[in-house]
Amino acid sequence: MVKPIYVLNGPNLNLLGTREPDIYGRDTLDDIQAALIKRAGDVSIEFRQTNSEGQLVDWVQEASAKGGALILNAGAYTHTSIALHDALRACVIPVIEVHLSNPAAREAFRQTNYVAPAAKASIAGFGARGYQFALDAALDMTG
Ligand code: DQA
Repeated sequence: MVKPIYVLNGPNLNLLGTREPDIYGRDTLDDIQAALIKRAGDVSIEFRQTNSEGQLVDWVQEASAKGGALILNAGAYTHTSIALHDALRACVIPVIEVHLSNPAAREAFRQTNYVAPAAKASIAGFGARGYQFALDAALDMTG
């Protein structure tokens, strides 16, 4: 059986739609989830969001054990979390990093990235469509 694709979202992404829409767009996380499920067809999508770092680490470990690929928008933990970096380094499935905005073009404190060095690829700056690009890549890799 084809393994599920995990899509994990970090802090404050539950606020998408109303949170700084000029930067992050007007799509909600539910909109993004629905679009991915539709696009994935028969492949199941394990779509989750948490505001807590430890939960994200637990889910990365779960994805590595049970999933076919991991799409991760770690939010601000991207720029702070060595625990997440270590969990991703231990991950045995492909990891695709996604950001709605392009952190490389933003504030200095977003220039540190603990996710990208442990990811297979990164997609940033395409808004919600970035998740769809990541899913297409994940389906290619796992199909
Ligand atoms: C983000 C970018 C991060 O810098 C920020 O902390 C977020 C969202 C994005 O999707 O553009 O929470 O991951």
